[in-house]
Amino acid sequence: MQNTQVILQERPQGMVAESNFTVQQGPIGEIEEGQVLIKIAYISLDPAMRGWMNAGTTYIKGVEIGAVMRAFAIGEIIASKHAKYPVGTWVEGLLGAQSHAISTGQGLRIVPADQGNLSWHLGILGMPGMTAYFGLLERGKPEAGETVFVSGAAGIVGSTVGQIAKIKGCRVIGTAGSDQKCKYLIEECGFDAAINYKTQDVKAELARHAPDGIHVFYDNVGGPLLDTALGRLARGARVVICGAISQYNATEMYGPKNYMKIVTARGYLTGIIVFDFLERYPEAIAQIHEWLRGGKMKTKEHIFEGIEQFPAVLKKLYTGENFGKLLIKV
Ligand SMILES: NC(=O)c1ccc[n+]([C@@H]2O[C@H](COP(=O)([O-])OP(=O)(O)OC[C@H]3O[C@@H](n4cnc5c(N)ncnc54)[C@H](OP(=O)(O)O)[C@@H]3O)[C@@H](O)[C@H]2O)c1
Repeated sequence: MQNTQVILQERPQGMVAESNFTVQQGPIGEIEEGQVLIKIAYISLDPAMRGWMNAGTTYIKGVEIGAVMRAFAIGEIIASKHAKYPVGTWVEGLLGAQSHAISTGQGLRIVPADQGNLSWHLGILGMPGMTAYFGLLERGKPEAGETVFVSGAAGIVGSTVGQIAKIKGCRVIGTAGSDQKCKYLIEECGFDAAINYKTQDVKAELARHAPDGIHVFYDNVGGPLLDTALGRLARGARVVICGAISQYNATEMYGPKNYMKIVTARGYLTGIIVFDFLERYPEAIAQIHEWLRGGKMKTKEHIFEGIEQFPAVLKKLYTGENFGKLLIKV
């Protein structure tokens, strides 16, 4: 039995490229006392990967050249010398972009068999879903009747944010990069309005759909779109900076120009790192699962088969070619 691994070959300059990775075969190795061997079923592709490919440390250290690419993954334990993790247990964690992983159990989360599809635990019931839940509720603090604006709304984080905001009684507006995605937001996710930021005038559309201003802006995109949204803040608005995908491959960062609107709107600008809420994941997973089961929420996945596709598929996150949680079935 061989391990297939995606290795970081070089650091990208600008846009992530297939040549940044190599896919290689190697021995799996023997497990020692206190370790488990996991056969990976799904690998998650996340926008943060672009940052992890850089040198240096942000909220987490960059991946070393020659190392297995960091990735969240889900798999089944096929050999165990760890009392807490018997063979047959399904686990999720930062297992890496590879077909097999050896783990001491540190950072592993046991995936309950009775909570939705396995792959959902990398999406709506995994790290991105947790980001949406805690970012919106703990940072955005939406109240019924308020207007919530979400950028990158058709993605896994954005679509989850918008649907939770609807459940909380808010009016929800989102942006996405195609008419098909906008249609999905309104017809499937229950958004009140969706704006195609590539073909429509976002400023004019926001004025139309949020005449009283935006109370919560949940930003996944950054760049000029952030400035446009800041210009429409209601008094006391909360701006949650979750990500800035428009900037991840940029060689020069676009900084916000319209930030004085925070002053005049008496607003708050706040950030979220999902890992700060690790201890509260079970509460959020149970709640989102209940909403899914009750038909109050939906989720969409975009799955490619074969780990060797990883280098080509990752780019789709930054070109908008993914539609739903991007995963690789190993
Ligand atoms: N802070 C945290 O702890 C945390 C945790 C998880 C995720 N995040 C952030 O949350 C955001 C969404 O992540 P996700 O997993 O839900 O990804 P996703 O939205 O499922 O996929 C990325 C999407 O971003 C959009 N996009 C790409 N380039 C863009 C650009 N230049 N301008 C505008 N939109 C662009 C594309 O959709 P369109 O077709 O609409 O362009 C693409 O499909 C990212 O910024 C990510 O870094 C933060």
